[in-house]
Amino acid sequence: MAEKHFKYVILGGGVSAGYAVREFVKLGLNPGELAIISKESVAPYERPALSKGYLFPEGAARLPGFHVCVGSGGERLLPEWYTEKGIELVLSTEIVKADLASKTLRSATDAIFKYDNLVIATGSAVIRLSDFGVQGADANNIFYLREIEDADKLVAAIQAKKGGKAVIVGGGYIGLELGAALKINNIDVTMVYPEPWCMPRLFTSGIAAFYEGYYTNKGIKIVKGTVAAGFDSDSNGDVTAVRLKDGRVMEADIVVVGVGGRPLVSLFKGQVEEEKGGIKTDGFFKTTVSNVYAVGDVATFPLKLYNEQRRVEHVDHARKSAEQAVKAIKAAEEGKTVEEYDYLPYFYSRTFDLSWQFFGDNVGDTVLFGDNNPTSTKPKFGTYWIKDGKIVGVFLESGSAEENKLIAKVARLQPAVQDVEQLKKEGLASVSNI
Ligand code: FDA
Ligand code: NAD
Repeated sequence: MAEKHFKYVILGGGVSAGYAVREFVKLGLNPGELAIISKESVAPYERPALSKGYLFPEGAARLPGFHVCVGSGGERLLPEWYTEKGIELVLSTEIVKADLASKTLRSATDAIFKYDNLVIATGSAVIRLSDFGVQGADANNIFYLREIEDADKLVAAIQAKKGGKAVIVGGGYIGLELGAALKINNIDVTMVYPEPWCMPRLFTSGIAAFYEGYYTNKGIKIVKGTVAAGFDSDSNGDVTAVRLKDGRVMEADIVVVGVGGRPLVSLFKGQVEEEKGGIKTDGFFKTTVSNVYAVGDVATFPLKLYNEQRRVEHVDHARKSAEQAVKAIKAAEEGKTVEEYDYLPYFYSRTFDLSWQFFGDNVGDTVLFGDNNPTSTKPKFGTYWIKDGKIVGVFLESGSAEENKLIAKVARLQPAVQDVEQLKKEGLASVSNI
């Protein structure tokens, strides 16, 4: 049985793994000290590309174009970069057993990896409709999107089903991004979701009304207030229709499901403290087990600004938490400390010609400003969230780089609101001199 030992092991080869390894190199790493173990077959890449540029009908993004750390304007870490730095990239290797007490990881093919320090960066897995026992959910051409192999299968189906019909199940991030991507590929798209409006996790009804109107004008059909209850397939096992709970039947050549993710923490069950579905960490991403850190989607960390433990499933946090953990590891080795993580939540999305950003916390009362008419030639609008008389969150569609910087500053500084009517009437102008 092969056994290897490393000073540092990063378990997972996604966004946070890539940013962690760059930070290790920046702070000083000797050849042979670090391994990344990933079940994916490629070096860490910017996952957000998979639901955007990767699916473009022309000029599609392909590796090596979007390896980390290009997503934040940094240098691309090509596979040869890892070799040059003496970093072991252990790909196509799934860890199936972790024993934190003996600092041992075991792969599906029985390879053993021992470590002194472990960074858990396993991210999330998709929730599957078969998890809820939806009948027929294992038919061909029902797709989920998490890793590059999923995206490749979807690209092949888009090419095979030119001009066909797609049903998108779910009205969250994946639903909205994939609905647009398939439409751009000339596929007839219907979106189905249970809530009264899309992205209820973040959007207010006013924000959602804009995107739903915009999508409808693009020819996307939207069916709300119901869920997929089953799927029909033909004699080849290919999906042919989605049966909805309300009795309607929608024809489908392709189905894309985006009904949420689940942090991959099961390897560590009972070995480390969990909270809110993730692995509990401190402000340095240290878990309750010494020399074990958790970053990215799996970490439930203290969000200092709001004084509560949170888990965040977005790329900006994946990058920053990874960098913070590595800084903390390296500082601890020298008997030093670093500042506690002080994160300002930042989410964004891009579809069609649209692009929004959100900073802060979406709690409290809301004020919508600007032009959110989906038929306008240049719609531009935003929303403030106000709690205890202060602006705590800001959303902006079609903002310039400067304006996006401004809303980040507002969300961080939380200015007091003097006049709600003024916020509504003047929009960004009302906060431009904070
Ligand atoms: P990530 O999922 O990136 O990496 C986890 C890695 O661990 C994977 O390589 C996985 O294979 C590996 N792994 C897991 N278990 C393993 C095991 N047992 N053994 C070996 N390897 C294992 N966010 C955002 O802010 N803006 C955006 O536009 C997007 N867009 C977007 C599109 C799509 C399609 C997805 C799926 C997600 C996004 N996100 C996003 C979310 C963002 O990508 C996500 O939050 C980060 O990738 C999280 O980084 P992690 O490193 O935590 O997990
Ligand atoms: P999500 O949580 O954003 O949305 C899930 C949606 O599923 C809900 O809004 C709801 O409409 C729907 N839903 C739930 N149960 C359903 C059911 N039984 N039938 C039909 N619809 C149902 O999750 P997602 O869109 O699947 O995204 C997965 C992960 O990827 C998340 O972590 C997300 O943050 C991440 N992601 C982020 C971005 C981004 O930040 N731009 C883009 C893509 C993916």
